[in-house]
Amino acid sequence: MLSQLDSLKAQALQALYTLTEEAAIEAFRVEYLGKKGHLTSLSAGMRDVDPALKREVGAKLNEVREAITQALSAKQEALQAAKDAAAVAGLDITLPGRPGAGQGSLHPLTQVRDQAVRILRKLGFVLAEGPEVETAWHCFDALNTPEDHPARHPSDTFYMPDGKLLRTHTSSVQIRTLESVKSLPVRIISPGAAYRRDEIDATHLSVFNQIEALYVADEVSLADLKGTLEFFFKELLGSGTAVRFRPHFFPFTEPSFEIDVKLEAKGREARWIEIAGCGMVDPAVFEAVSRTRGDELLHPERVSGFAFGMGLERLTMILHGIGDIRHLIENDSRFLAQFA
Ligand code: DAH
Repeated sequence: MLSQLDSLKAQALQALYTLTEEAAIEAFRVEYLGKKGHLTSLSAGMRDVDPALKREVGAKLNEVREAITQALSAKQEALQAAKDAAAVAGLDITLPGRPGAGQGSLHPLTQVRDQAVRILRKLGFVLAEGPEVETAWHCFDALNTPEDHPARHPSDTFYMPDGKLLRTHTSSVQIRTLESVKSLPVRIISPGAAYRRDEIDATHLSVFNQIEALYVADEVSLADLKGTLEFFFKELLGSGTAVRFRPHFFPFTEPSFEIDVKLEAKGREARWIEIAGCGMVDPAVFEAVSRTRGDELLHPERVSGFAFGMGLERLTMILHGIGDIRHLIENDSRFLAQFA
């Protein structure tokens, strides 16, 4: 009887949902709540219910009657309201919106980006930007990337007819910034889009986002880099996060490292996950920007710096345990609603 009542309720609410005509709504009332209606006949069954269960079944009966009655009067009111609105023959744009219609929220990528920026701001970093349609100089040459580097090949990079390109990383903002700064220190963070001719799959997009950071001053050490990144990842991913630096190579940093993080794991085995690239700014980068600047502010013998960069999608996937990068661009509200 309990399950019969449950399915009656579900059936009633569903049936009511599709009704729009006054007559049909009245017929519904008779069918479910009327003297010979479904609910009345189920109530009659109370007589045969085991005395031990009577209380429970009675309560359920009341609950179902209440739910159907309420849904019905809401429907009747809505119908009346629609009639009233039609009567004044206009749309009242001053009516408040209906609550619960689904409130929007920031995209998970935006949330993680904002969080990352907030953390680095605490350390004195400020936002910087550069163009997405970039010169090969800013994207590659000034970053000490040789002419024959595979990343520069048209099979990997989108080129414009005029020889410009869609930046393949946000590291180009390092050059834009260094070319124009008036004084030291430089501490910038630059989130933004990057483009690569990659086949789209569970871990690759051809348009994606990165976060770049650069710190340049009289004397910047590897310890500064390490301390900054440890602070950053512990703030972002949790204080139990372990951070590891693995020697690597990037043309624009020397020495260079890849950074792995190990998140605090509950119940399962924690793994090291590669998350970012970093290093000490290569003197060749200071040389290149000094040449275009034509001054000594960033002379490689006078300044040092560190830089790091990472993929925002990857960071978001790690933070939220997202298994497929494509979820982040599909705009499926069932996915997005989980980040409200
Ligand atoms: N630009 C690199 C990439 O797209 C990431 C990176 C590595 C940025 C090292 C840096 C860095 O600033 O120092 O893979």
